[in-house]
Amino acid sequence: MSSGTPQGVVSQCGIGIDIGGTGTKGGIVDLATGQLVGERFRIPTRHVGIVFPAIIKNGVALSAANVDKSWINTNVDALMTETLGREVEALNDADGAGLAEAHYGAGKGKEGLVMVITLGTGIGSAMILNGQLVPNAELGHLEIDGFDAETKASAAAREREQLPWKKWAKKRLQRYFSHVEFLFSPSLFVIGGGVSKNSEKFLPYLELRTPVEIAALRNNAGIVGAALWAQQCRDAQAAKPVIDPVK
Ligand code: BGC
Repeated sequence: MSSGTPQGVVSQCGIGIDIGGTGTKGGIVDLATGQLVGERFRIPTRHVGIVFPAIIKNGVALSAANVDKSWINTNVDALMTETLGREVEALNDADGAGLAEAHYGAGKGKEGLVMVITLGTGIGSAMILNGQLVPNAELGHLEIDGFDAETKASAAAREREQLPWKKWAKKRLQRYFSHVEFLFSPSLFVIGGGVSKNSEKFLPYLELRTPVEIAALRNNAGIVGAALWAQQCRDAQAAKPVIDPVK
């Protein structure tokens, strides 16, 4: 908040990002005064990672459960690369969160199948087997009791139906997680998404064989995973052997 804002009144803020040829700058802007709030960041411009709530195969969005249907078949990598003038690599949002948790967070160093389930507008899922991401699991769309699971067990469903946390956990989450557990027998569940900051309101009610942890990176796992994914793609490109074209 700027010093000109009366105490107790939160003014409207926006996030500004300036992508340049050599550096990317950004910050939070108080839109009432045009002042930057807090620190400005600047990093050298390299690859940019983006996570997106859809199946992303070779950079192309192949579904659109909670975003406009016009995204289907859009090459997100190409569109963003052209728009930003930087190499952009896109990845499913839950896969990004999963990658981040497996590398830095609750799944770090864990053997076997780690399943990161994000509870937000939809239900996102990431499967990480011995540290390796198996992308695009889309387990939020399992059909359970005749319903697309995310329409009943997502955080948005709890809010929409104004369910108390306990009831949502004991009925909806319990049904969802026990079904996923039955199908995959993971070694660990990691719960992420916006609700991860309220874990004490639902975690005590879940009864599962599988250990459950809350995403260590909370709702930032997607951002961290996007940056990591961009770096992994850049490293993979650099490691590719240069093959002379057949004459
Ligand atoms: C989408 C997934 C996404 C999840 C969380 C689902 O509706 O199908 O691709 O990961 O929501 O955003």
